[in-house]
Amino acid sequence: MTNEVYVGMSADLVHPGHLNILKKAAKLGRVTVGLLTDQAIASYKRVPFMDFEQRKQVIESIKGVESVIAQTTLDYSTNLKQLKPDYVVHGDDWREGVQQKTRQKVIDCLAQWGGELVEVSYTQGISSTQLHQAMKEIGTTPQVRLRSLKRLLAAKPLVRFLDIHNALSGLIIENTRVETPQGIQEFDGMWGSSLTDSTAKGKPDIEAVDVSSRMSTLNEVLEVTTKPIIYDGDTGGKTEHFVFTVKTLERLGVSAVIIEDKTGLKKNSLFGTDVAQTQDSIENFSLKIQAGKAAQATDDFMIIARIESLILGQGIEHALERAKAFIEAGADGIMIHSREKSSDEIFEFCERYSQLENKKTLVAVPSSYNSVYESQLRDKGVNVVIYANQLLRSAYPAMVNTAQSILQHGRSAEVDQQMMPIKQILELIPGGK
Ligand code: SPV
Ligand code: MG
Repeated sequence: MTNEVYVGMSADLVHPGHLNILKKAAKLGRVTVGLLTDQAIASYKRVPFMDFEQRKQVIESIKGVESVIAQTTLDYSTNLKQLKPDYVVHGDDWREGVQQKTRQKVIDCLAQWGGELVEVSYTQGISSTQLHQAMKEIGTTPQVRLRSLKRLLAAKPLVRFLDIHNALSGLIIENTRVETPQGIQEFDGMWGSSLTDSTAKGKPDIEAVDVSSRMSTLNEVLEVTTKPIIYDGDTGGKTEHFVFTVKTLERLGVSAVIIEDKTGLKKNSLFGTDVAQTQDSIENFSLKIQAGKAAQATDDFMIIARIESLILGQGIEHALERAKAFIEAGADGIMIHSREKSSDEIFEFCERYSQLENKKTLVAVPSSYNSVYESQLRDKGVNVVIYANQLLRSAYPAMVNTAQSILQHGRSAEVDQQMMPIKQILELIPGGK
């Protein structure tokens, strides 16, 4: 009787390492590939370049592969219990790192029917992580970047964004990764904040920095990064002007714009009712959304409506009525904002919002209610969490502290320990030598 062999893989960027594993597997028997779904891959690393169907087509046509089925979680157990294979074949590189536990579970599961784990030694010199890095160095195209937000949202229950105000902040978001027990964590994309972009230019956050200047910041960032951008479009300006902003953003490869339902001179929302701010009418703002949607050239660009009802003390019902209306007008999502210290009102909104029949992507910005965990927001149905200003808020005090120390001491030695070494700044951006 032919042995049954199971190989779980992501197979995003197929390389000789994959072929080696499949060749070894085929020698042992009839090979079923459990191809990880986009969601399963995104649960422990990044969203794959190719979607499930594309990856399936590639793997199905590799010699020795009899069939390809979906593996919907990183955990193999469900598929293994169904197939009861004689062998599972995997590269030996999962003995350490996030997949350790998955590996142990495979061994325990196979033991139930006397199956065996066969590990193939890791093919040196090539891995999909290295290929990903190499592709990042080549860069991306506006079209690929634009689409990437929708792909992320389809693959992950929650994505996280952080503020940009120049190219360097973009690079921090592009490259920062930490290993946690839940896997490698990184930011999914960048928030083109009006507050931090204006502040970095020494201007107040009142739409005083014109769109051309905002686009120039975006261009700087786009030049050196590959991750998606959500642009803070403030009020969107006049409807007749907003349609041009939409076209410009799309052409640059920005994935989404968020516009807020305010009218007249815009002030930052975190002032709340301390300053005079006027909410636009549902009718007017809906027309702006409709005009923006009609102006976009691709299906991938998103226009997200930001509701200021909680900021202006109008309550949950008021916010929900607007959410319903703006989605009916064509908005691809809702951003709900709050300046409360506690997340209670946001949670209440989320619970009510989740019952809406026409609900779409939900965005939250936990600037004032900052004790909330991403996991709590995710459980309440939030899809995008935006850390809207944390990078600039951390950079500024550090710079002021350095300036003060130099003035106080008449030299820079005292503050040296708090700065990055000269060697490090010289090498921070590759290619300088
Ligand atoms: C921004 O970052 O500019 C925002 C979020 O719009 S907030 O500052 O909280 O209004
Ligand atoms: Mg703003």
